[in-house]
Amino acid sequence: MHHNFDEPLNRENTHSVKYDLRRKLFGREDVIPMWVADMDFKAPPAVASAIQQRASHEVYGYSFHPESFFQAAIRWTQRRYQWQVQSNWLTFTPGIVPGVNLALLALTQPGDKVMIQPPVYFPFFHAIHNNNRQLVENRLILKNGRYHVDLEDFEHQLKNGVQLFILSNPHNPGGSVWTRQELKAMGELCIRYGATIIADEIHSDIVFSGHHYIPMASISDQIADHTITFIAPSKTFNVAGLATSVGIIPNARLRKAFNHMVTSIHLNKGNIFGTVALEAAYNHGDQWLDELLEYLQGNLQVIEQYTRHRLDGIDLVRPEGTFLAWLDCRNLPIDNDKINAFMIDQARVGLNDGASFGENGRGFQRLNFGCPRHTLEKVLTHIEQAIRKI
Ligand SMILES: Cc1ncc(COP(=O)(O)O)c(C=O)c1O
Repeated sequence: MHHNFDEPLNRENTHSVKYDLRRKLFGREDVIPMWVADMDFKAPPAVASAIQQRASHEVYGYSFHPESFFQAAIRWTQRRYQWQVQSNWLTFTPGIVPGVNLALLALTQPGDKVMIQPPVYFPFFHAIHNNNRQLVENRLILKNGRYHVDLEDFEHQLKNGVQLFILSNPHNPGGSVWTRQELKAMGELCIRYGATIIADEIHSDIVFSGHHYIPMASISDQIADHTITFIAPSKTFNVAGLATSVGIIPNARLRKAFNHMVTSIHLNKGNIFGTVALEAAYNHGDQWLDELLEYLQGNLQVIEQYTRHRLDGIDLVRPEGTFLAWLDCRNLPIDNDKINAFMIDQARVGLNDGASFGENGRGFQRLNFGCPRHTLEKVLTHIEQAIRKI
């Protein structure tokens, strides 16, 4: 190990959503925040020094995305996932949630049906509602400790006229890293019924041993032709605050419609720090990432130990990827709607309430384990002690 992920960091008073909005969100400041999906680790040294070097120029005028920016992303997908993408397929977006919203605006009309797979990342619901599209749920099925796609329902919904399907691959919050077989089945059904796929692959780099992330669009040329993929260094290298991501769109018609939307509202500029950070991360971040994965895997084992032996009433849905643990708390002797408050007020831990990810997330809590191990152990001990006092 070269990087010290155990290093304690003070993130207070840095305009951090995770830390500095605690009073607003949880009603108190003395909770350990384990919610929003950024990590309590420093970014890789190569990223920090690229930003510092650019900052030292002291002129921060308008900038554009050079070819080297896109080449860094192309080499990353090729090197790590053997997915060969072409430079003219790529487009900058100032974050993936904006990208998903822009795709909805570019490719669908008000009233059109958009399908998602709850329990799922809540901004997908907001994107559909805020843009007056019609929400279609293809609920995932929790079976033998893993979330699976209900393919029969998936097809049924498509038959009923879904225009667009938003995939989370790997899945937030369920942690499933979709297999080739699952992706192929979903992708081929989308083609058969003429639905476009938005593949949000922001968590693609955080996958644990025994599992493999496969880009949806890499399954076949036909699926690629129906898919807009989003990737970003945001989660992987802890640079979400730089709002820099990439859309990959092989189909010329989809690309034209999407790019028109991005440029017409002048969202294509981005920021110079995000630009240099993405390049540095994708060009020089491999070893740091491999070490991070090892560390996160260790954290996951700690959570497993606790849920198996010490946290009565809580089961872990073991994630195959992402640094998010989905805790099944339905066996706690607490009303499902009061579990989050119990975690805040009794355990002093700030988690995401499962219900915000959809009706079938009720009774679950999401715990972000992208933090030093001693913080994680403290949190789990707090929860253990709170449960004992029930
Ligand atoms: C599935 C998913 N998509 C998108 C995002 C956020 O993307 P961005 O910050 O680039 O808008 C997150 C962050 O948690 C996420 O989990």
